[in-house]
Formats: sequence, structure tokens, C-alpha cells
Amino acid sequence: MTDSNAPRLFVHNASQLLNPFFRNSIPGGRLSLEVIRDGAALIEGDRILAIGPSAALRRDERLQGSISLDVSNCVVGPGFVDSHTHPVFASTRHEEYEMRIQGASYESIAAAGGGIRNSVRTLRAASELSLLARTRQHCHQFLAHGTTTIEAKSGYGLDLANELKILQVIDHLRNDPENSLEIIPTFLGAHEIPDEYRDRRGDYVDLVCDKMIPMVAARELAMFCDVFCEAGVFSVEESRRILKTAESHGLGMKLHADQLTHSGGTRLAVELGAASADHLEYIDDCDIALLASSSVVATLLPGASFHLGATKFAPARKLLEAGVTVALATDFNPGTSPTVNMQAILSIAGSSLRMTPEEAFAAATLGGARALRLDDRLGSLTPGKQADLVVYDVEDYRLIPYHYGMNHVRAVIKKGRIVFDHGSLA
Ligand code: NIG
Ligand code: FE
Repeated sequence: MTDSNAPRLFVHNASQLLNPFFRNSIPGGRLSLEVIRDGAALIEGDRILAIGPSAALRRDERLQGSISLDVSNCVVGPGFVDSHTHPVFASTRHEEYEMRIQGASYESIAAAGGGIRNSVRTLRAASELSLLARTRQHCHQFLAHGTTTIEAKSGYGLDLANELKILQVIDHLRNDPENSLEIIPTFLGAHEIPDEYRDRRGDYVDLVCDKMIPMVAARELAMFCDVFCEAGVFSVEESRRILKTAESHGLGMKLHADQLTHSGGTRLAVELGAASADHLEYIDDCDIALLASSSVVATLLPGASFHLGATKFAPARKLLEAGVTVALATDFNPGTSPTVNMQAILSIAGSSLRMTPEEAFAAATLGGARALRLDDRLGSLTPGKQADLVVYDVEDYRLIPYHYGMNHVRAVIKKGRIVFDHGSLA
């Protein structure tokens, strides 16, 4: 059945149409990528009606009355689902970047009061309105680089009022008809111990569990809760308590796990049945096997290793070969990964994680959707799913990571509407 009132869009003549899928045809496990040559997609309203070779779709009677969009010589794929970002912050930290280039470590900068605590100081001093203006720009940049959905974390407030301020900025943008980027909010009050709680950290964990999580959940300001489980930040025991509290308030669970040391975060993610364990630079073989036996997605953020100048990257090949569902995300934040560009992440995933363009593209779309448990609606072009499509100015999708650091996006379609058009497509 078709809804005859909804506008229909016929995107056709794509040199390649990309559709990621789960190899075992059920959600979870390894991903693959179907590449349809001379491909087309028929969209009705905000949904995908059909995909296939252009010649075959041209015979579809539902084409009648549709608007034609000829994308000759272009690749078309699902929008990126960037499942791990920290987009609400008040200022950049380029001075710390320069210090790291000159030899300082991320940990030593953090221990001296910089790092996340630096961002907390500037965020607390910023008005909600100024944060909204800045984050709105970030949203536009995400879309312009082919990302149609992001997960967005709080975590630079670290007190009730400022964590709420961040989540309200996100909530405002979620409900703003001028913003087409879809945003999935995550509460990350447990991102760091704030300055005023350094000598009574237990009290901060109490505050997160007893005040922040109940308030955030009651106001429906978050869908997930995340914790930075790391030596010197939140222990496994503290992380377990925080995430179990979040779960009891109806939030999904995520973890920053094994990023700087083998902290035990991955094991905790499996124990709790979290949606994803993120980073995993220091995961070991035993925890890889644990992940493979679970439905926890491994979200890899190689932009963070790259920007930190680290030699240590997550063992992507081992994770893939063990059958773990791998997602790729930017980790967009002012400290370790200040980019919104998922195309650049595909390049780093290729060169430093040894993920093929096929693996990387699937991880950055359907993998990200799975990490948000939204794979029934997002992440691929399967008929019935939301019509979130990106048109790239290349004839072969492997050119996207190959020409690194560039923006190949020509147009973006979100929920069936053209929301970004760089090359006068319409
Ligand atoms: O994912 N590891 C914790 N959080 C961020 C960094 C945040 C920051 O430095 O501001 C990350 O890398
Ligand atoms: Fe992060």
C-alpha cells in the first residue's frame, strides 16, 4: 500500500547504491555491504519504498507522479549514524593540542586540571543561548558531511544545573524544525570527577545516582546513560552502580571502556548488557571473546587515537574476525577528536584499523544504528526504513576514504526531504 498524499522521490542512475546488512540476516554479528550498480531508490514521505537497479525500478508503477532526482556519476548511501559524540561545549582546546604535540600527555594535562575539567569550567560560565548557537552550527556541519543522526552526550557540566543545561540545549535542537539532524541524547554526568568533589568522590557518585539520573529520566532528557570507566576516573564498581541506577530509570547503557588502560569496562558492558562498549584501545583477547558472545556493539573511535598522536588503536581486525558488531563514530569533542567528519573516520579506519572501505562504511551506518538500538529504522536503505540518504560526488564508494580529509557530500536527504544541497541537485 502507498500513501497517495505523501510526495514521492525517485533517486536514480546512481553509479553505486550502498546498502549495509547483517550477514546472518538478524541484528547482531558481522556486517556486509550490498553494492547495487546503476542503483535507484524510491522514497515516499519519510520512508524508503524500494531500492534496486534503476532499470528495474523504472518499471515500478509507484513511480507515477514522483519527483525525479538524477544522480548520475554519484554514489548514494544511507546517512552516517554517528553513535558517539560530545557536541555541546563552550570552547575549543587547541592550546592542549599544541601542548600534546610538544610532548605533554592527555593524562598529565588532565591531572593538572586541564582536559575535561577545562571544558567544564568554560561550559559552566556559558549561557544556554550561546551553547545553543554553537551546537546548532555543529549540527549543520554534521549534516553537511553526510551524517543524518548523532548520539549526543552531556558531560561537561558535572553538576545538576549544568548537566541539565546541556541536555536542554540538545532537547531544544531535537524539537527545532529548523534543525534536520536527528539527535539521540545521552546523559554522561559520570564523565569526570568535578573540581569541587576531588576529595570526596563518593559524594559525586551519590549525586549522579540520587539526583541527576532521576531528574534527567523524569524530564525525558536522555535515552542512554554513559560512564567514563577508566583508571583515575570512574572505577568498575562506581560505573556498575551508576549504570544500574540508570537502567532502573529506563535509560539504555553505554560505556567509555578500555580507552587509556585495560580498565575492565568492556567486561562490565557485557555483564550489564549495555548497548555498546566504546573506544576499546586496550581491550584484550579474553574480552574480545566475551563481546563476541554478547549483543554489545564495539564502537571504535579511531579519530581519538589519531588526534592524540597515539600509537595504540583498537584491535578492529580481531573484533571483526571474532564476529563482533563493530560501529565507527567520530567521538566529536574538544579534547580528543574535534571533527564531525565521518568520511575522515573511514580513512583512519582504513589506514590505522585495517578496516576495508566495505567494513568501515557498514560500521559507520548500520553499525552506528545498532549501537543506538535503532537499526530497525536507521542505518540502511532497506524498504520500510527512514529515508536518510547521502549523495556523494564520487563514482566508487572506495574513493570516499581514499581521498582522505575531503568532503565528498553533494546532497543530503533526511526523512525524505533534501536538507543539504551542495551541487544544485534539485
Ligand atoms: O571520548 N574519554 C572521555 N571522553 C572523551 C574525551 C573528552 C575530552 O577530552 O573532553 C573521549 O575521548
Ligand atoms: Fe567519548
